[in-house]
Amino acid sequence: MCGIVGYVGEQEAWPIIFEGLRRLEYRGYDSAGIAIIGPQGDIQLRKTVGKVNGLDESGDHPLGSVGLGHTRWATHGRPSYANAHPHTDCEQRIAVVHNGIVENYLELKRRLADAGHVFESETDSEVLTHLVEEGMDRGLSFQEAFRRMGRMVKGSQAISAVLQGDGAEICALRLGHAGGIVVAQADGQAMIGSDLPALLPLLQSESNMGQVSFLDTGEMVVVTRDGVEYQDLEGNHIDKQPRMVSQEEVQVDKAGYRHFMLKEIMEQPQAVASAMRERVNFETRRVDLPDFPLSSQEIAELDRVILIGCGTSLHAAQVGRHLVERYGGLPAEAESASEFRYRDPYISPRTLVVAIGQSGETADTVAAMQMVKDKGGRLVTICNAEGSQASRIADGSLYMRAGIEIGVASTKTFLASLTILNLLAIFLGQSRGFLDTAKSQELVDGLAQAPRLIGELLADSAVYQHLAQEYVGTDYFLFLGRGVNAPIASEGSLKLKEISYVHAEAYPAGEMKHGPIALIDNDMVTVALAPKDSLYEKVVNNVREVKARDGRVLAVLTEGDTQLAAAVDHALYIPEAPEHLIPLLTTVPLQMLAYHIALLLDRDVDQPRNLAKSVTVE
Ligand code: F6R
Repeated sequence: MCGIVGYVGEQEAWPIIFEGLRRLEYRGYDSAGIAIIGPQGDIQLRKTVGKVNGLDESGDHPLGSVGLGHTRWATHGRPSYANAHPHTDCEQRIAVVHNGIVENYLELKRRLADAGHVFESETDSEVLTHLVEEGMDRGLSFQEAFRRMGRMVKGSQAISAVLQGDGAEICALRLGHAGGIVVAQADGQAMIGSDLPALLPLLQSESNMGQVSFLDTGEMVVVTRDGVEYQDLEGNHIDKQPRMVSQEEVQVDKAGYRHFMLKEIMEQPQAVASAMRERVNFETRRVDLPDFPLSSQEIAELDRVILIGCGTSLHAAQVGRHLVERYGGLPAEAESASEFRYRDPYISPRTLVVAIGQSGETADTVAAMQMVKDKGGRLVTICNAEGSQASRIADGSLYMRAGIEIGVASTKTFLASLTILNLLAIFLGQSRGFLDTAKSQELVDGLAQAPRLIGELLADSAVYQHLAQEYVGTDYFLFLGRGVNAPIASEGSLKLKEISYVHAEAYPAGEMKHGPIALIDNDMVTVALAPKDSLYEKVVNNVREVKARDGRVLAVLTEGDTQLAAAVDHALYIPEAPEHLIPLLTTVPLQMLAYHIALLLDRDVDQPRNLAKSVTVE
C-alpha cells in the first residue's frame, strides 16, 4: 500500500515521477505528493488530496532533476493535504515518504514533541522526518541520520528521503515484509520505486536491459548522480547482484479497454494457458511441476495440506481445499491468513502449507508463512509477483505467470490460482499413487479445454450488460453455491461489493435454511450457482426454496438446463465441462456481472474507494 518513486538524473524529474506515481496508483489513491529539488537546491513541494492526476491540474510543475513522490493509502490520519506525503522538516532540508506503519510512532512522537518538534500531520510517517531532522541537528550526515532513524523505528515498512542542496541524494530503506523498494539505473540516471512499473523509463533503456535490484529487509540504498550504493543500517557496504525482469512484468497498458479490470478479465484464457505452460505434458497427459520443492519421498510423507490466503486468494484456497482432497488424496483445510497467523496451529515437517497471493506481499499472508517456517512446516507459494516476499520465504514458488494485474479487484490471478491448484492437486495425486493413470489423464484432458471454454464465456458481453441493467437497482444480493462453488459464490459477492458498493453476501447454499432464508422477499436477489455437477440436485432444492418465498433468482446454469432455467427469473450459462473446471467457469459470469453493474453505477472500477491492490498493513 502506498507507492514511492524517486529519481536522480539529468532530465526533468517531475514528469518521470508523476508518470511513475500514476503507474503505482493501484497501491493507494487517497492523496499524492512530489518533492523536487529546485535549481537553488531548495525543496519544492506539491501535494493533492485524492488521485495523482490532481498534482497536474495547476500546471505548475517545479523544475529540477532530483525528486521523490508518493501516492497514499491512508492508515494513520484521514486523506487530507496535511497528511499527504512527502513530509518535510521545519527547515525544509529533507522530504520523507513512507509506505507501511511505524508501530512505535506514539512513543517516538511523544519524545520528539517533548524535545520541541512540531507535528503538522496526524500521520505516523511524520515521526520519520523528525527523527532524521533530530539526527542532522546532532551533527550527523544525512545518510547517518537516515540510518539512525531506520534503527529506531519498529514495524514493516519502506522509507525514503531526499536531501535539499546541489548534491543530489536520495536514501531508501526497507524494514520487514511490508514495503518493497526496487532500484534501477541507466545512462547516468537512477530510480527507486515501490514496484517495477514505476521504473519503466529506465527499464526501457538499451543500456539497462531490464536490470533491477530489490532491497531485502534491513537494507538501504543511497542514490546519487554517481550511481547507487547498498548498505546495511550500520553503514556497511552490501554487494547486490541485479536481476533481469521482463517487459511483461513492467508494462502497464489498458490495450484499448475502458478499464484494466475488463482487460484483465478478457486476458483470462491466456492467463490460464500460461499457468499450465511447461507444467502439463499434454502428450503423456501428466502434470509435472519442476518448481515444486519437495522430493518424491517428502511428498509421500505429507500428511496434511493447509491452504491460506486473504480476500480473493482465500477463496482460491477454499477451492484448492476441495481439489487437494478430491484429487490429491490428502486431508486439506483452507483458512484466512489473517486468522491463521494468530492461532497456534499444529505444524510438522509433514504439513504442506500453500500460501496463495497475487502480490506475494500481503502482510497477513507473509506473516502466516513466516510462522509456518518457524514451526518447521513445508511451504509453497502460488503467487504472481516474482521476487516478492512470499516467494522469498517459501521453499518454492509456483508462479501464476498471469502478467501484471492493475485492476484493484483480482480477476485473472484468481483463475490462474485455480488452474495451479488443479495442477498441484493432480500432481500430488499422481505422485502419491492416489490417482490412477486413467483418472489423471482424464483430468489433464479436461484442463486442456479450460482456455477455450473461458474464451467462449467472454465472446459476447451483451448478455452480462443486459442482466446488469435488469438488476442494477437491487440493494441486496445473496450468492449461493455448494461444494467447490461455495467459495465461488463468496468471490462473486466480493467482486460485486468491492467495485459497485452494493451489499452482497455469500452463503453455502445448504446453510440457507438455518437463518438467511428469513431475508428472502421480492427485493432480495439470489444469485445461485447451479451448474451440472455432483451437487446439482441439492442446489436445485435450495433454488426452489427461494422461489417458494417469492425471492428473485438469477442462476448460473450449464447450457441446456432448460428445466431449472424455466423455474428462475434469469439465467447465465456456462458451457458443459468436467467437474474440476467448473469453478473456473462459474467465476467468469459473476465477474462480468459485477463489472457491468459497477459501470452502470458509474463507480471507479479500477480503483474502488478505500481499497488498494497490495495490502501490506496488518
Ligand atoms: C479482491 C482482492 C483482494 C485481494 C487480497 C489479497 O478482489 O483483490 O481481496 O485478493 O487483498 O491480496 P493478495 O492476493 O495479493 O495476497
